[in-house]
This record gives sequence, structure tokens and C-alpha cells, in this order.
Amino acid sequence: MSESGYKKNDPSFSSRAIHEGNEPEQWNHLAVVPPISMSTTFKQGGPAEFKFYEYGRSGNPTRSVLEKCLASTENAKHGLTFSSGLAATTTITHLLSAGDHMISMDDLYGGTNRYFRRVASRMGIEVDFVDAVDPKNVEAAFKPNTKMVWIETPTNPTMKIVDIAAVAAIVKKHTKSFLAVDNTFMSPYFQRPLDLGADMVMHSVTKYINGHTDVIMGAVCTNRDDLHDELRFLQNAIGPVPSPFDCYLVNRSLKTLALRMEQHMKNGLAVAKFLETHPCVEKVLHPGLPSHPQHELSKRQCFGQSGMLSFYIKGNDLETSKKFFKQLKVFTLAESLGGYESLCELPSLMTHASVPEEDRKKLGITDGLIRVSCGLEGTEDLIKDLDQALKAVVHV
Ligand SMILES: Cc1ncc(COP(=O)(O)O)c(C=O)c1O
Repeated sequence: MSESGYKKNDPSFSSRAIHEGNEPEQWNHLAVVPPISMSTTFKQGGPAEFKFYEYGRSGNPTRSVLEKCLASTENAKHGLTFSSGLAATTTITHLLSAGDHMISMDDLYGGTNRYFRRVASRMGIEVDFVDAVDPKNVEAAFKPNTKMVWIETPTNPTMKIVDIAAVAAIVKKHTKSFLAVDNTFMSPYFQRPLDLGADMVMHSVTKYINGHTDVIMGAVCTNRDDLHDELRFLQNAIGPVPSPFDCYLVNRSLKTLALRMEQHMKNGLAVAKFLETHPCVEKVLHPGLPSHPQHELSKRQCFGQSGMLSFYIKGNDLETSKKFFKQLKVFTLAESLGGYESLCELPSLMTHASVPEEDRKKLGITDGLIRVSCGLEGTEDLIKDLDQALKAVVHV
């Protein structure tokens, strides 16, 4: 256990994020920084005779560097990248066929919810949404045709924590099923689901892993050869691959992931603690606060916290939330998260607008629930900004 009470992190994480897959010896000119290979096709010795690459959709040297490096950060044998997080989710879901059943966490990114509910279901995949915070609900939802269990933890936007090891133990009892974990909110620096028994981990690389708000990308990492082989086939057969330039940028971003995550954690915790005592705030949702119902589980399962939190503004209504956003000077009102810049948003009208209203109500996604992504700015600047905006619109 570390001083902060979280599991002690692997001191070689940064070494792997910097060097794995980036070896200069793989290039004839011994480049220390991997080159961007833009070629969409590769010369063959004879028909169907090639040593490394054939065509840019099925593989590319710059992409291979990133996939290898990314896999090492998740302690995975294999890594694959996709043109977006949702493209990664879609490709994973193609492991299922019409007639298969899947169980999904009820609180998750709105776009994932929309894809499962409105697209996968149209292809004959049966989906049940359950509250996986109690793993017994996952057990109870199993059917003979259940193939996939999908969880996100912390959940988006209500920051609930799912016990990955407990859910993995349940899934393992059902030999035809696999567990996929969306690890976007934590990044591999703070949470490594494969080590806890998950079969695969998915990322919206767009968020913390890239961290500079200039690339849309997704990734899947796994230790299972069977799942990897099938996903690799699907990656090529469906075609949602990232560009070599974006792979170069993300590989570059990985080099500073550990440093950035430490600062995100520091800012996120400071902001959460500040808001928790603020008279203009009803409630703060952050797993690093002792008041969070799964705080102890979070400390056992993770190596720290990201810069994500949500809070209910006093009054808990749309008008107050709208006025609050207008007052902000450092935080920007925008979707997305995990970048160097601090963002905030209103899930009920933005990231989670596609979740049916009745479900939003059940999950607590009200018009007064504000999601915050703390960036890398000075901690005091973030606190001052939130303080002045809250005081300007909530009169207590
Ligand atoms: C937790 C989570 N998963 C998946 C996605 C989808 O990723 P992308 O926007 O890269 O398609 C998002 C996007 O916001 C997300 O927040």
C-alpha cells in the first residue's frame, strides 16, 4: 500500500510507457523517435509474399509501435487500436452474434449506452442493463446465451465503483462468457483490469491516454490469444483503424501519462474536497473522498484517482446549472475529458442526453448534476474559478 492508502503502483510503469515497442533497433536508421509511416501499401516479394505489412488497414509500422507500447501499460500480451473509442466498443460487440445476450452496467458513457440499446439490439443482440455495484445483480442476470459482460468503473457520470475482481470471478464460472472493462476514466496508470481477472480492457484513447484533446482513438488490450486473434480479424474486416499520424501522437502522449495522471489526481482530489464543504454544493461524487460509498474498494482496486468528479449544484435545476457554466473562466463548457485543460459539462443535456429520461432519473443524472474533468492547471486557479462561479449563481 502507498502513503495515500491506494495500492502501490508499479515503479517501472513509465519505463514501459517510454521504451516498450519503441526500440531504435527495429529501424534501419536507428531512429530514437519512431517514424510516421504514411504508406497505405507495402511492396510484396511475390503475390501474397510479404514479411511485415501488406496493406495499411491490416497493419502499419507506426500503429504497431503504439499497440505494443499500449499493451505493455495494461500488462497485456496484445493491444489493438481503433478509429475511436466507440469503434473499439463496436468491434468488441462484433464478437457476439444474433441471439447472444449481454449484460451491461447501467451507468456508463451515454454513447456506449446508445450503441448497445439502439444499434447492437437491432442486430439481434439482447442487452440487459444492471447495477453491477452489487455483483450479485450480474450473477442474477446471466442467461444460457450470455456472452459478454460490460462494465465501466468508475461509472460515467455518477462515479460508482464496480468490484472488477468480484465480477470477473462470476464471469469465469460461465465458460462461454467474457468480461470487458472500459478503463477510460482511470487510464492504465491508475487501474489495470486484466490483473484483476478481466478478459479485455477497452479505452477511449481520446481521453487520458492521449491527454491533449487532439486525437479521437480507441484501444482494446487482452492476454487471451483467442480473443485477440478474433478482434484482429474484425479490425481488418470491419476497418475502423486510426491514422498513422494519430498513432504517432498517442505514442508520444504515453511518455508523459504517469506524470499527467499524478497532477490530474492532485487537482481532482483538491477540487472534490473543496466542493464538499462548499455551501452552494449539495453533494460531491468522487471515489477518493471518504464519504464515497465505495471509497475502500477503490483504494483496494486502484493505484489512485483521475481528475474526474461530479457534483450536484444547490437547487439541482437546469437554470442554475446554465448560469453556473456562463460564469466559468478557467473551466471550459465542453464534452470530453482527460485532457490537459479543465472541462465541465451537463450530462443530462450533453454526454448522456441519449440515455432515456426515465433511466437518467433512476441513475441520478439530473439537470443539476455537473461533471468535471480537472486538467493540469494550477490547483488554486481551478478552486478559485469554481468558487466565484458558484457564489455568483447560488445565493445561500
Ligand atoms: C468512458 C467512455 N467510454 C467510451 C467513450 C467513447 O469514446 P470516443 O469518444 O473516443 O469514441 C467515451 C467518450 O466520451 C467515454 O467517456
